[in-house]
Amino acid sequence: MTVRKILVVGAGNMGAGIAQLCAQQGFEVVLSDVSLDFCTRAKSRIESGLVKRVAQGKMAESEKDSILSRISLAGDLNPARQCDFIIESVLEQIEIKRKVFAQLDELAPPEVIFATNTTSLPVSEIAAATARPQRVVQMHFFNPPTIMKLVEIMPGAKTAPETIKAAEQMAKLLGKDPVVCKNEAPAGIVSRVLGQLLNEATWLADSGVADPADIDKAMKLGANHPMGPFELLDLIGLDVHRAKMQTLADSLKDGRYNHPRIIDKMIEEGRLGKKVGKGFYDYE
Ligand SMILES: NC(=O)c1ccc[n+]([C@@H]2O[C@H](COP(=O)([O-])OP(=O)(O)OC[C@H]3O[C@@H](n4cnc5c(N)ncnc54)[C@H](O)[C@@H]3O)[C@@H](O)[C@H]2O)c1
Repeated sequence: MTVRKILVVGAGNMGAGIAQLCAQQGFEVVLSDVSLDFCTRAKSRIESGLVKRVAQGKMAESEKDSILSRISLAGDLNPARQCDFIIESVLEQIEIKRKVFAQLDELAPPEVIFATNTTSLPVSEIAAATARPQRVVQMHFFNPPTIMKLVEIMPGAKTAPETIKAAEQMAKLLGKDPVVCKNEAPAGIVSRVLGQLLNEATWLADSGVADPADIDKAMKLGANHPMGPFELLDLIGLDVHRAKMQTLADSLKDGRYNHPRIIDKMIEEGRLGKKVGKGFYDYE
């Protein structure tokens, strides 16, 4: 597989980070979203981050400039015609992802591989929106994609072994250390194991056994975790955690993934976590 130009679809939190990562690793990248305005804002965020690194002496000005020069922007999917690899990172909604994949399928040359950064939607269902399900694979990056070493790779029911190999190769070219799942399963490895841990901590606090701060302290000192489960929940966002667990509970039909009522109550009260300044902890 020879990849020169990558299309990243979705210029949100993850898409912008993935585009930056691709450019940092020397690839030409097109960052696309529903409007050019979203892409311009994403590129400004990337630029601010790089300017900070230059100011800290962690990056040369010339390197920053060449990374930025490799990122071009598009308010539509037309660049799919000229790209060699596509990474989709749009909103976590099956109908939106399927629509994007169907459009990409019309535009991209038949040999191009489509990777989805979905967290917990079924790869097979996304792939079924195309006429190339054998070339569709999940590549799940972690936040922030420029820093986190892991990419989880997961096949759909019809993904070809060569596509998995190509995704693995791509992840390595992006400087990552990938893990390949043998079969399709909702939410891969990390989200699933972590989701249960976060749920369990919440059940424990909800049943009055210990306060969130003490559970955090216990997990940091007793299990050597760098962050406590409630600190992590605040960072992820309670709404994002709930959506993930609901997908798992629905698709696996397993009560172990149900979340306690306190999560719903906090979401109703707008205590979504760090992004809004309050969650289990107050950040204001
Ligand atoms: N946030 C995380 O920590 C994280 C980690 C790993 C994977 N993911 C996955 O990455 C994906 C994106 O998540 P995010 O946190 O970046 O979301 P986000 O809300 O920050 O960004 C989503 C972007 O998709 C764009 N979009 C929506 N419809 C589109 C379309 N039809 N065409 C092109 N762009 C479109 C939106 O305008 C928005 O800019 C999701 O599938 C999510 O599950 C998120």
